[in-house]
Amino acid sequence: MNIFLTGSTGFLGGELLVALSKHKEVNKIYCLVRAISEEHAIIRLKHVFDLHGDEFDAKKIIPVLGNIGEHDFANVLLSNKMIQDTNIIVHSAANTSFSKIYDKIVEQVNIGGVNELIKWSLTLQNLDTFMYVGTATISGKEARNRVVYEEESPNLKVHHVVKYTYTKMMGEILLAKHLPKEKVLIVRPSIIMGDSRDWLPRSYVILWAIETANMLRLVPVNGDSALDVIPVDFASNSIVALLFANRNYPVYHISSGLNSSTSSGKIMKAIEPSFPGLLPFKFIEKPMINQMKLWAKGKLPEGSALYQYPNYLDYWKSIFDDVNQMRILLAALEPYLEFAELGQIFDNSKLLADIGFEPPEPAHIYLARSAKYLKNIDVFAGAVDP
Ligand SMILES: NC(=O)c1ccc[n+]([C@@H]2O[C@H](COP(=O)([O-])OP(=O)(O)OC[C@H]3O[C@@H](n4cnc5c(N)ncnc54)[C@H](OP(=O)(O)O)[C@@H]3O)[C@@H](O)[C@H]2O)c1
Repeated sequence: MNIFLTGSTGFLGGELLVALSKHKEVNKIYCLVRAISEEHAIIRLKHVFDLHGDEFDAKKIIPVLGNIGEHDFANVLLSNKMIQDTNIIVHSAANTSFSKIYDKIVEQVNIGGVNELIKWSLTLQNLDTFMYVGTATISGKEARNRVVYEEESPNLKVHHVVKYTYTKMMGEILLAKHLPKEKVLIVRPSIIMGDSRDWLPRSYVILWAIETANMLRLVPVNGDSALDVIPVDFASNSIVALLFANRNYPVYHISSGLNSSTSSGKIMKAIEPSFPGLLPFKFIEKPMINQMKLWAKGKLPEGSALYQYPNYLDYWKSIFDDVNQMRILLAALEPYLEFAELGQIFDNSKLLADIGFEPPEPAHIYLARSAKYLKNIDVFAGAVDP
């Protein structure tokens, strides 16, 4: 099988690339990479393998330069003779930003990019499967504090926390509209965070939010809300297994499910022993984030509820050169807090039945082992470049 993989320099895509490269049924992997030259693309791809000493086979891993957000990208792919023997497309690339300032580019890459890939895929003679890495969070804001099933989405009526999830939903809708049903496989990971192996995570995406909460200590979120979080190795192994499994469904959640779910409170409690001497974590109501922002601006009115926590306010004064900086963190953190309070758990019974895997370890168990890596995270860099 020859695979065309997008997003291989990313968190999940990197893991997928390494796992696919070790799979006996995989012949070549054409990797779409943003790079200035073929040499640069190879350096980027080798880096993915070098992180944990995996073997990079240049005969198998073949870079394809390109940007899926580019106008007429389908023609770029069409004019590349080498990749026309693709059997499987694994589309993992996306702009995953939650920040409103990136909404336009998020649409261009996540909707426009799928459109272009669809146009190209329709020309492929030997295409078996178009695997689209979607997201379980297309379920929207309405489903709260309950288990969510694959069949509930896509649903154009739901409201989205961020534009990103809307665009991921539209990607699924486009595939259903233009490609034969039997060629489309949708996988919808829940929240991918860290790695269950006790080693350096491939990316700090989303772990950033944990480190930011770790820094703030007073966290405006309901710590008891159920959270569906999975490690990247479980996500990748499940997706690769599904690709080659006898599948009974067109769409799968790649998720913790109820039995392996967690909560913000459980995660924070699990990492707390790794940071002795800091103030204990305290969870306050989410709307208090507005008071935190006003306080950081020096404009919180006297008598406001936030003043009930003077030790946290003093602590913030001690850790920030200028407390105004805290607003950058709060603005970036806000959508994460909103997701964390939805209380959505994504049913994974279809996945587990079809690939025969055990559920993943709950996040508060495996993340306790990763707590030592949190200190590597530059929270400000993560906040401005999500
Ligand atoms: N992480 C999660 O919690 C999570 C949860 C559910 C679903 N997902 C889905 O899983 C997939 C992978 O997410 P991730 O967390 O691995 O994201 P990521 O680390 O941000 O990686 C994104 C990848 O997409 C590539 N990309 C972005 N824009 C591109 C463009 N215009 N042209 C070509 N490539 C482009 C990036 O390339 P560069 O290296 O050049 O930037 C990178 O390889 C996405 O489809 C996402 O929606 C992620």
